[in-house]
Amino acid sequence: MTEQAAQIQTDALAAIDAASHEAALEEARVKFLGKKSPLNALAAEMRNLPNEDKPKLGAALNMARQAISNALETSKQKLQDAADATSVEGLDVTMPPRELPSGSLHPLTIVKDRAIQILRRLGFALADGPEIETEFHCFDALNTPFDHPARNDSDTFYFDSGKLLRTHTSSVQVRTMEKQAPPIKIIAPGSAYRRDEIDATHLSVFNQLEGLYVDSDVRLSDLKGTLEFFYRAMFGDKTEVRFRPHFFPFTEPSFEIDVKLQVRGEEPKWIEVAGCGMVDPAVFSAINESRGDDAFDPSKLTGYAFGMGLDRLAMIQYGIRDIRLLIENDTRFLSQFA
Ligand code: PHE
Repeated sequence: MTEQAAQIQTDALAAIDAASHEAALEEARVKFLGKKSPLNALAAEMRNLPNEDKPKLGAALNMARQAISNALETSKQKLQDAADATSVEGLDVTMPPRELPSGSLHPLTIVKDRAIQILRRLGFALADGPEIETEFHCFDALNTPFDHPARNDSDTFYFDSGKLLRTHTSSVQVRTMEKQAPPIKIIAPGSAYRRDEIDATHLSVFNQLEGLYVDSDVRLSDLKGTLEFFYRAMFGDKTEVRFRPHFFPFTEPSFEIDVKLQVRGEEPKWIEVAGCGMVDPAVFSAINESRGDDAFDPSKLTGYAFGMGLDRLAMIQYGIRDIRLLIENDTRFLSQFA
C-alpha cells in the first residue's frame, strides 16, 4: 500500500507537470487532493491494516499529499508568471507618460491669500459673516440713513423677505462687535454684491477684504501706518500710498486710498484701492443698543476700519484688463497663473 501511495504521487506530479493552463491544474487538484482522490481511498483502507503498519502508510500518505500540493502551488505560480509576461509583451515601460494637466490657484485666491498673510502678521484675526444680510447689519448699524443711495432697489439685490445680498463686507464689523468685546482686530475677506451694469471693470459680485481694529487708543496714524505697510508689502517697498478725504457713513474722518502704480505697459498713475476711516461713534452706539450693554463705550474706545476690493488688487498685480476674466473659468486665462 505504501508503494501505491508513491505511485499515486508520481501520477499526480506528472499530471500537474503536463497541465498547460489553470483549468487543467484545477482538474488535477480536484482529482488528486479532492474528496474522491485515490489517496483518500487508500486512507479509508487503513483501518484494515494491522496496527504496526498504520504509521508507515500514514506517513506515506502525508508525504504524497504534501508533494502534490507543493507541485500544484509551484505550477500555478509558473503559469501566472507566464501569463503576466505575455500581457506586457511589446510594452515599453520606459516610455514617458502622457502629461496630466494639473490645476492651479485662481489669481484671486493667490492675491487674497497674500493679503491675509500680510495682515495676519500684523495681528489681525480672520472673521466671517453671512452673504445674505439684514438691513440692520448692512446699513442701519453702520449709520447709513434710510434714504442713502446704496440702499436703493436699483443698487442692491433685495429678497422679498426684506433681506439682501450684502453690498460690502462691512456687515462683518457689526456681526463681530455684536458677539465679541473689545479689543477687536479682525479682517473679513468675502463676496459682496451690487446691481452694477456689467462691463470690463464691474460685475454684480465682487470680492472685498474688510478690516476693523477697535481698542482704547487707536489712532488715524495707526490706520495710515498699517495700510502703507500693507500696500508696500503687496506691491513693493517703494510704493506710494495716498489718503484722499472722502465720505462713508460709518467712518469719520473717511478716506479713499490710492496707490501709485505702473500697470504693465502703462505710465505710473494713482489707482484707488480702498476706503477707510475712523469708526464713527454712532456705530459704537448702535452696537451697544443691539448688544444691550455698554461694551463699546464711544467715550473710551476708538477704532479704524478699511475695506478693499480684492478683484482690483488681482487686476493690478497681474495686469488683467477685464474683470470678467476672473469669473469665466477659461483655462487659457487661468493656466497663466499655474
Ligand atoms: N464699505 C466700504 C465700501 O464698500 C469700504 C469701507 C470699509 C470704507 C471700511 C470705510 C471703512 O466701499
